[in-house]
Amino acid sequence: MPLHIIRQDITRMETDAIVNAANPTLLGGGGVDGAIHKAAGKGLLLECMKLGGCKIGMAKLTSAHKLPCRYVIHTVGPKWKGGTGGEKELLKSCYRESLKLALEKECKSVAFPLISSGVYGYPKDKALKVAIDVIGDFLLENEMTVYIVIFDKASYQISEKLFADITEYIDDNYAFAHVESRLERSCRAPKMCSESCAAPVFLDKCPTFSGTLINNLAQIDESFSQMLLRKIDEKGMTDAQCYKKANIDRKLFSKIRSDVNYKPSKPTVIAFAISLELPLDEAEDMLKKAGFALSHSNKFDIIIEYFISKGKYDIHEINEALFAFDQSLLGA
Ligand code: APR
Repeated sequence: MPLHIIRQDITRMETDAIVNAANPTLLGGGGVDGAIHKAAGKGLLLECMKLGGCKIGMAKLTSAHKLPCRYVIHTVGPKWKGGTGGEKELLKSCYRESLKLALEKECKSVAFPLISSGVYGYPKDKALKVAIDVIGDFLLENEMTVYIVIFDKASYQISEKLFADITEYIDDNYAFAHVESRLERSCRAPKMCSESCAAPVFLDKCPTFSGTLINNLAQIDESFSQMLLRKIDEKGMTDAQCYKKANIDRKLFSKIRSDVNYKPSKPTVIAFAISLELPLDEAEDMLKKAGFALSHSNKFDIIIEYFISKGKYDIHEINEALFAFDQSLLGA
C-alpha cells in the first residue's frame, strides 16, 4: 500500500526517513519536534545547529542519531492565520520539499506527522486534506511507501460535513441489516426487450439480446483478475494508472496480472473497483468474482457503498473516512 494512515508515535517509525514539524530555528521545541529531539539525543541538536535554520515551507535533512530511522527531514510549516496568508501553499511546499529530499536520498519509505496542525493551529481536517492531496499526487509519479502518522485521535479530523453525512448513511442503512443481492433483484422477472425489437419479445428470443447473453455468460465464467484486466482495457487505463489510483503497489498488481485465479482480499477488490470508478452493481460483480459481497451489517461496506453511490472515487478521501471510523483502509 503506497499511502498508509496509522496511529503511532513517529519516533518509533523504522522508515528510511521521518519528517519533523520544526520551527525556523531548527533548535527543537514542543510537540513532535520535542519528541523527535528527545528520542534522537543531543547529537541531533548539535547537527541542527550547523544548518543555519530553515525557511517556512522548506526542508533540511539530518541523520537520525538514536532514532530507529535513517534520516530526519526537518520542515517548517506555516502558522494558521485564517487561511488568507498563503498558508495552504506553504504547507503544500513542506510536503513537496520533504518528499524531494527523501527521493534524493533514495528513501523507500517516509513517515509524516500532520504538519502545522498542532501548535501552529492549522485546522486539522484542512491539514489532513493538504497532506493527502500532495502525497497522493506524488505517489502517482513515484514509487515510495508513505505513512501519515496520527499521534492521537484528537489530532485527526475529517471534514465535519463528510463525517455527519457518512454517520447518517450508516444509521439509515445499518438499521436494515438485510442483504438483498442485486442478482435476486434482477432475476425476479423476465425482462422484455423494448429497445432493439419492434414488438416486445422475451429476451432470449431476441437476436440482439442473445448476443449480449453469450457475452454475459462468458463474463460469468471469468475470474476476478480476468474481469479486472478487461475493465482496465474498457476504461482505456494503463496498468500503472489503475493500481496507483487503487493505492496498490506494483508488486501485488503483477502477481494478480500473472495469476488468472488469484484470490484477492476484499479491500483489494474494492480498491480496484474504486480505481475503475465502477458503479455499485459492477463493483458487486467484481466482488462476487472473488467470493465477496457488500453487506449492510458491516460498517466498512456501508461506508464504501456511501462513496460509490455518491460517485466519489478518490481512494485517499475514502481512506481518510475509513480511518475516522476506525475501519481498515483500502489498498495493499
Ligand atoms: N508522533 C506523531 N505525531 C505527533 C507526535 C508524535 N510523537 N507528537 C505530536 N504529534 C502531532 C500532533 O498531534 C499534531 O497532529 O504532530 C502534529 C503537529 O503538531 P506540532 O508538533 O505542534 O507541530 P506544528 O503544529 O507544526 O507546530 C510546530 O511546535 O513543537 C513546536 O518547535 C515546533 O515551533 C514549532 C511548532
